[in-house]
Amino acid sequence: MQRADAQPFSTFPAAPPATGSAPGKVILLGEHGVVYGYPALACAIPRFTRVQCEWYDGPNVLVSPFLQQGAVIPLVSPSASAPAALFHFLFHHFQVPTENVRVRVDGDLPVGRGLGSSASLSVAAIRAVSAFVQRPISPEALLELGLEAEKHFHGTPSGLDHTTVVFEGVLLFQQGRPPRRIVSPAPFELVVLDSGGERQTGAMVAGVRERLKASPALIQSLLESIREDVEQAVIALESGDLNALGQRMNHNQLQLQALGVSTPRLEALVTLAREAGALGAKLSGAGGGGVVVALALTGAHRVLEAAREAGVPAFSVRVNAPAGS
Ligand code: PMV
Repeated sequence: MQRADAQPFSTFPAAPPATGSAPGKVILLGEHGVVYGYPALACAIPRFTRVQCEWYDGPNVLVSPFLQQGAVIPLVSPSASAPAALFHFLFHHFQVPTENVRVRVDGDLPVGRGLGSSASLSVAAIRAVSAFVQRPISPEALLELGLEAEKHFHGTPSGLDHTTVVFEGVLLFQQGRPPRRIVSPAPFELVVLDSGGERQTGAMVAGVRERLKASPALIQSLLESIREDVEQAVIALESGDLNALGQRMNHNQLQLQALGVSTPRLEALVTLAREAGALGAKLSGAGGGGVVVALALTGAHRVLEAAREAGVPAFSVRVNAPAGS
């Protein structure tokens, strides 16, 4: 990949602070299949990662109580910490000197829950660093660099997460094709329920890859069936048929279970959401823990109430809602 510019950036005189932010996302249908070139449907959510770059007197550092309590991570050499490695990579790309930059990361997007936090941090970081060095970045370059950046967190991202985070809204994504924005005539609500389990996207993706090697016919037929559900979900969404969308999400959960990425805890949250009136519910993201996403027409409060009674952290998000509602 080409570096941003031939002219190294100078932090002298002290550069003004610059910020960048990016949302998180949920996957409505199609995780894992998307790694193998199948389509997936995702939706950005209004939970954000924020990055600030500011001039200070010392070698470059990353300060982020949000990522790691009390940590001040040096950014002058490659690091084992993925966020630090990301900034080291970006500083090299934008030719930032090794001194006089302090990076702060905060936000309200939960980390490591399948909500796209690594893509969100990657995109927010690129926006902040490019603004700090006063080199505006085109949307195309942001997408290309975002994919490289996300590789610091897990080796072979499909591109779904960072593309959704960049474009926002509801997006149909397939590798090698331009993303398509999907607009539903019917507004809806999503409830995100947190299973609390630890998870690593890379390990979950590697697990599916191993199962694909061991049982190619079975896994391939599951991936084909996921494709069918994604395609039907797009038709349902575009015609405002939220019941049909919910049914496709429920079916997708069965496929994810068969792929081996669900857990008893995720299954319990899916059941909780459906029993509270959700039109559909499934795990979202790589699985093995992380979150469940539930679709509600207007009854999100019932799902939230059921989650609260069960002691499950949850929040709701309105999609396509008219402004001010
Ligand atoms: O769990 P997340 O938010 O990192 O989502 C992973 C989605 C996968 O399809 C499993 C992997 C990918 O790169 O698309």
